[in-house]
Amino acid sequence: MWKWLDGPASVGSMTKRILFVCLGNICRSPAAEVVLRVKASEAGLELEIDSAGTGDWHVGEPPHPPMVRAARARGYDMSALRGRQVTAVDFARFDLIVVADEANLRDVEALRPSGDTTPVRLFAPYAGGAERSIPDPYHTGDFDGALQLVERAAAELVAQLQ
Ligand code: 4NP
Repeated sequence: MWKWLDGPASVGSMTKRILFVCLGNICRSPAAEVVLRVKASEAGLELEIDSAGTGDWHVGEPPHPPMVRAARARGYDMSALRGRQVTAVDFARFDLIVVADEANLRDVEALRPSGDTTPVRLFAPYAGGAERSIPDPYHTGDFDGALQLVERAAAELVAQLQ
């Protein structure tokens, strides 16, 4: 039923403001935020990039230390980021909302204001593999694996945005 959400087809050069969403906003979406920021900058793309969580447990907190360390090992600085919760207002603030998994997709869709048409897309399919979701490293412990998937997906997203 959500098949149409998988493809990056509707993402183009008019997409300038991108919000990444996961559950806690301390692992996957802040990692996606910093990785896309670096890759967009390298590609000469001017984007506004942010991240948020569907949950409120980590509002105001820095990202999860093991995620920060895994990112630093690959050259990304997550130290300035702080958690926040996604709200209905984000549908007006962003051109594209990219989510880490299918629970995020349902939770974000539940916030959509009536009449709003902002695309909400799963991130992992951009990587071109079989993954629909980014496995949650907060539970799997595989922070570097999540980061590698984020890097592959971000590279394709940048290519789509150019
Ligand atoms: P994230 O990982 O959604 O990638 O930020 C999680 C972080 C914290 C929790 C769940 C997922 N938590 O339940 O606190």
